[in-house]
Amino acid sequence: MKDKKLRSSEWFGRTGKDGFIYRSWMKNQGIPAHEFKGKPVIGICNTWSELTPCNAHFRELAESVKHGIYEAGGFPVEFPVMSLGETLIKPTAMLYRNLVSMDVEESIRANPLDGVVLLCGCDKTTPALIMGACSVNIPTIVVSGGAMLTGKFQGHDIATSDVWRFSQAQRAGRMSEEEMNIAEACMSRSRGHCAVMGTASTMAVMAEALGLTLPENAAIPAADSRRKVLAHLSGMRIVDMVREDLKLSDVLSPQAFENAIITNAAIGGSTNFIIHLLAIAGRIGINLNIDDFDTGTKAVPLLANLQPSGKYFMEDLYYAGGIPAVMKELDGVLNKDALTVTGKPISGHYQNSTCYNRDVIAAIDAPFNPIAGISVLKGNLCEHGAVMKPSAATAALMQHTGKAVVFENIDDYKARIDDPNLDVDETSVMVLKNVGPKGYPGMPEVGNMSIPKKLLEKGVTDMVRISDGRMSGTGFGTVVLHVSPEASVGGTIAVIQDGDLIELDFKNRSLNVQLSDKQIAERKQQLVLNADMASRGYVYLYQQHVEQAHLGADLDFLKGGSGSQIHKDSH
Ligand code: FES
Repeated sequence: MKDKKLRSSEWFGRTGKDGFIYRSWMKNQGIPAHEFKGKPVIGICNTWSELTPCNAHFRELAESVKHGIYEAGGFPVEFPVMSLGETLIKPTAMLYRNLVSMDVEESIRANPLDGVVLLCGCDKTTPALIMGACSVNIPTIVVSGGAMLTGKFQGHDIATSDVWRFSQAQRAGRMSEEEMNIAEACMSRSRGHCAVMGTASTMAVMAEALGLTLPENAAIPAADSRRKVLAHLSGMRIVDMVREDLKLSDVLSPQAFENAIITNAAIGGSTNFIIHLLAIAGRIGINLNIDDFDTGTKAVPLLANLQPSGKYFMEDLYYAGGIPAVMKELDGVLNKDALTVTGKPISGHYQNSTCYNRDVIAAIDAPFNPIAGISVLKGNLCEHGAVMKPSAATAALMQHTGKAVVFENIDDYKARIDDPNLDVDETSVMVLKNVGPKGYPGMPEVGNMSIPKKLLEKGVTDMVRISDGRMSGTGFGTVVLHVSPEASVGGTIAVIQDGDLIELDFKNRSLNVQLSDKQIAERKQQLVLNADMASRGYVYLYQQHVEQAHLGADLDFLKGGSGSQIHKDSH
């Protein structure tokens, strides 16, 4: 155990006027001095908000964390940060991920905290909190909120991925508005985040695979009392982490990042995983490249039979053994010695686990699908890369050449997608421009464009779709996303025209438009960049500084960290 002066003693351990001020105002909460003086002071960074329904149970969860902190001899202080609810925030929660990370970073550094518990749930809340905490780098543990229970509708199990199916069924006239209303209540029947391997679940798995959580964190349902037990135990553990001075930078090694990439492949995680992990790596100073994602996943098959790549739900994953049972299958390819928040190597989190359902978690030598992970494509249409999720795509479309049907922006797409005169058939390649980080701004989840109504009515269920935007982790289809550079900074996608031939060659990981370099250069010379630039506020700052998707879409000046030291003291 390391013997280090508590950071909080710079506040509560002082004498004279300064110590008086720091302690006296804490006492107005009815707290005796011995509660916080000389004990590890643990911040509980809470993204609770009734505007973030996925995180609306977090006050209760924070109480469990507090009980654990008290039990271990620490002193808990709960503090709010901006919360990001995927369903309500407009224009897109991704616009504010970096803003929340700034809120988290400054809140931790500015206050008398020795350690912090990050309460994360809905998609962006996890990367935003980890990014902010990385830039301070004090002992930190993550507690996820857990997924909803599986929805039940008309005798079927449902969750968020079914929203896309219901929408297509309604547009094709196979589902009524009344049935849609009933399905709404049937799907969201408990507390928690989306119950499929969407982005929120992917982020919870990422945190567990990085070693930032106690074992089993990712899969325990929000409504299961064991979620509170995990929160309690995490509260106990963070106090010891402060005593051991076990910081984020001790856990987040290159090996931990590789473990996260391998595990993400095996669980069929969201494409958003790439953009968030790149941003986290940038904050903690790990040199991670978009190409590392494909390299790491090539040998790893899909083990988890979970929607949207498979059939089951997060609840099923927990009952089948959770992430420890998945990681046990991956033992041969994981970095077993990577250190975790428990102070033990990651292998200690999974080696005694058991799989209870091979239909949900397949064995490594009999995988659910030999194709897994997120693939990185390169080519003249995406010089810096684009991503796709092959396990959620249609095999027959992964080697495909088709004529482009171009939508210049989201409004153009909405106006024309169901136009009976739209010149499109099932072999077309739909291209959506100007939905990237800078151009939209905020890179919304619109990349899995709807199939045109007239094709839906013919029974078409998938087409090749390409954009510089993102896709919900709950989405599926042969969808190429995150094209970089984006249209609004002059990427090749900006000059694609209707009728251009686009070739998706998954086998060779390439995406090209059949135009010569000269033709592309000539078109680019004529290009007028038309990003809708904000003139004030956070969005102005964001558009001036956001990086491209292949770099993680962080703000350039937020990369790295400033540590936990405060260099000026007004008291
Ligand atoms: Fe919050 Fe899906 S909307 S996780």
